[in-house]
Amino acid sequence: MEIIICVGSSCHLKGSYDVIKELERLIELNHMEDKIELKASFCMGNCTKGVSAMLNGKTINYLTKNNVEKFFNEEIMGRKTP
Ligand code: FES
Repeated sequence: MEIIICVGSSCHLKGSYDVIKELERLIELNHMEDKIELKASFCMGNCTKGVSAMLNGKTINYLTKNNVEKFFNEEIMGRKTP
């Protein structure tokens, strides 16, 4: 799996660094280091919807450090959170 987080200026201001930190923590916690490649990218063209990301080529918008765990559990671990 490949996750690319936008670190363009707009997403950066909206907290991409915190999103990346939180993803790193979740990847480690779930022992997914071998399965997930976490990358950063410049502007993905969705600045108004940041923090923007791509998961295996699928665009994900509005990530924050608060909702990234839900995204991780649902989209990556395939667990539904209540
Ligand atoms: S800066 Fe992230 S989509 Fe433009």
